[in-house]
Amino acid sequence: MRKSRAAVLISGRGSNMMALVEAARAADYPATIAGVISNRPDAAGLAFAAANGIAAGTVDHRAFATRESFEASLDQTLKDMGAEIVALAGFMRVLTTGFVERWQGRIINIHPSLLPLYKGLNTHARALADGATRHGCSVHLVTPELDGGPVLLQAEVPVLAGDTPDSLAARVLDAEHKLYPRALALLASRLQSEETS
Ligand code: GRF
Repeated sequence: MRKSRAAVLISGRGSNMMALVEAARAADYPATIAGVISNRPDAAGLAFAAANGIAAGTVDHRAFATRESFEASLDQTLKDMGAEIVALAGFMRVLTTGFVERWQGRIINIHPSLLPLYKGLNTHARALADGATRHGCSVHLVTPELDGGPVLLQAEVPVLAGDTPDSLAARVLDAEHKLYPRALALLASRLQSEETS
């Protein structure tokens, strides 16, 4: 079967990237993880990728004078990997409109809230402060508006009595690890069916 080549962009721990790598091992998964790129050389996820035989590289944003020159290097690295899809997984750099538009329809992000609720940071603490009874995560197509693109898939978790931001984050993260592989598969399958139609 045809497998779309997906690159995963990380900045740290990389647990969602690991979930994508594990899912992509299945023979019937419609994407392969072509590479992992971090903007931070110390990202823990890089070692996992390398240990699993996946091309892993760093494009350190601090080495570039402008966002555009950083992104030009990122684009070149993605091209070298033959990436067709970009999956942001805890990637902590805001991308310019130019970059996002070059990858339009082929770049996705996982966000720890039920979008459009709680865009931005500290989503778990904000949900608790609001007394939310349900929370969760979303995978969305990336557009120039931060956390604002069309949602592909969401997963909901309950907020339980006594939850702290950490306990709620852990419950959401478990849901993320199941949701992101489903969402990448959905996008890859959609893009492949567009190729043949
Ligand atoms: C996840 O909670 C994700 O939703 C958010 O950043 C966190 C990244 O975690 N965008 P990890 O690096 O995938 O473990």
